[in-house]
Amino acid sequence: MKKKLLVLFTAGAFAGSFGGLNPVGRAFAQAQTKGAPKQMSEQAFKNITVLKGIPVDEFMGTMGLFSAALSFCCKDCHTGAGSSNPKWEDDPPRKVVARRMAQMVSKINQDNFNGRQVVTCWTCHRGSPSPAITPPIDTIYGDTVFTPTDVLPVANPTTGGTPPADQILDKYITALGGADALSRLTSFTAKGTSHLFGEVQEDPAEISAKAPNYLVTVVHQREGDVARTYNGQEAWVMLPLTVIGKYSLNGSMLEGAKLDAQMAFPGGLKQFFSSWRVTYPSVVNGKPVYVVQGSGNGLIATFYFDKQSGLLNRMVRYAGTAMGRVPTQIDYSDYRPVNGVMMPYKWTYGWISGQEIYSLSEIQPNVAVDNAKFGQPVQRTK
Ligand code: HEC
Ligand code: HEC
Repeated sequence: MKKKLLVLFTAGAFAGSFGGLNPVGRAFAQAQTKGAPKQMSEQAFKNITVLKGIPVDEFMGTMGLFSAALSFCCKDCHTGAGSSNPKWEDDPPRKVVARRMAQMVSKINQDNFNGRQVVTCWTCHRGSPSPAITPPIDTIYGDTVFTPTDVLPVANPTTGGTPPADQILDKYITALGGADALSRLTSFTAKGTSHLFGEVQEDPAEISAKAPNYLVTVVHQREGDVARTYNGQEAWVMLPLTVIGKYSLNGSMLEGAKLDAQMAFPGGLKQFFSSWRVTYPSVVNGKPVYVVQGSGNGLIATFYFDKQSGLLNRMVRYAGTAMGRVPTQIDYSDYRPVNGVMMPYKWTYGWISGQEIYSLSEIQPNVAVDNAKFGQPVQRTK
C-alpha cells in the first residue's frame, strides 16, 4: 500500500516530571522494550545541567522546540553554531537565560498543573524572543486566529456533521484501491528528489519499504546523506554536519517512526491505534477534510481525509519531550495508481528541524529489498 511516508525524527518521551532543581528527568511510563540502546544527553554532551536523564533524540527535540518557540537559529543561543568550530558547551548569556526558562517551565507545570506539560516555551513566546505582555486593541476587536489544541475535541455525533471514524478509515482503504490490492503490495522502492526548505537545489532521494512496516528514506545531500530508518524494532536518524551524526529514536519518537513506516502500507492503519476520535471537519490546502485522531502507546496523530476522494491529505503526529510535544506534519498529494494501489508521488515532510518536499519519478512495486537496509544507517564515504 502506500503512501509513503516518511519518517521521523526525534525525541521521545513525554510527561516530564521534572523535579526540583534539575534533572528534567522524565518519568516515562511507557514500557520501553524495543529500540536501540539509548544514549543519554549527559553522556553524549559536555555541559548538561537541566535537560538531564533524557535520550539524545529527545534532547535534540527540545532544542528544536526552543528554536521554534523563539524563532531562533541554533547560533542565536550557541557560540559558533553553523561555523566550522561550534562550541555547543559554552554558556553565552542567552543560553543561560534559556536554561533558567527551562527550569521555570518545569516548575510552573509542577506547581500549578500537577506536572502536566501544559505550559511550554511556545505558550509565552509564540515565535518572539520578547513575549507580548498586553493585548492590543486591534487584536481584541480583529479576526481571531484559531490554533487547534493537540488533543482535539470529539465532534457531537448528531450535530457535528461527520461520519464515525470507522467509516472514514474504511473509505480511505477503498479510495486507495481496497484491502485486497493493499495486501498484494508487499514492498516497493522509489526514486525522486527532496527539496529542503531554504535551499535552491534539489537532492536525489531514495525510499525502500517492506510490509508490514519497514521503511528507509535516504536523501543524498551535498554534505552527506540524511537517512531515517525503521525496521520493526529500532529507528534511526542520520544527519550530516550536525552535532551528533546519528541517533536512535525512543519512546513516542520511536512510535512515530513506526507510524510513518505503517503509512507505507496503510492497510494496517486502523489497527495501529487503540483509540480513534472524530473532531469537527476542517479545510487543508483548500480542500474540505474530515479530521480523525488516533492515540495509543504514547503517540497522538491527527489525520485529515479529503471529504470527496477519501484519500489522506495530511497527517500530524506528536512526540513528547521534556519541554513539550514535537510536531511532525506530512502533506500528501499527487496520488497515482501503482499495482492497483493509489500512492502519493509528492509529499512534504515538515518537522522542527526542516521541511523537505519529496517528488517521486518512479515507484517499483514488489521488489526484493535486503532487510539490512532498514537498520542503523551508515554515512557515505566521500
Ligand atoms: C533558546 C536558546 C537555545 C537554542 C535556540 C538552542 N539551544 Fe541548544 N542548548 C540550550 C541550552 C540552555 C542548553 C543547555 C541545556 C542544559 O544545560 O541542560 C543547550 C545545549 C545544547 C547542546 C549540548 C552542548 C554540550 O556539549 O553540553 C547541544 C549539542 C545543543 N544545545 C544543540 C543545539 C542545536 C543543534 C540547536 C538548533 C537546532 C540548539 N541547540 C538551539 C539553549 C538553546
Ligand atoms: C511564562 C512565560 C514564559 C515562558 C513559558 C517562557 N518564557 Fe522565555 N521569556 C519570557 C519573558 C517575559 C521574557 C523577556 C524577559 C525580559 O524582558 O526581561 C523571556 C525571555 C527569554 C529569552 C531571552 C530572549 C532575548 O531577547 O535574548 C530566552 C532565550 C528565553 N526566554 C527562552 C525561553 C525558553 C527556551 C523557554 C522554554 C523552556 C521559555 N523562554 C519559556 C517568558 C517566558
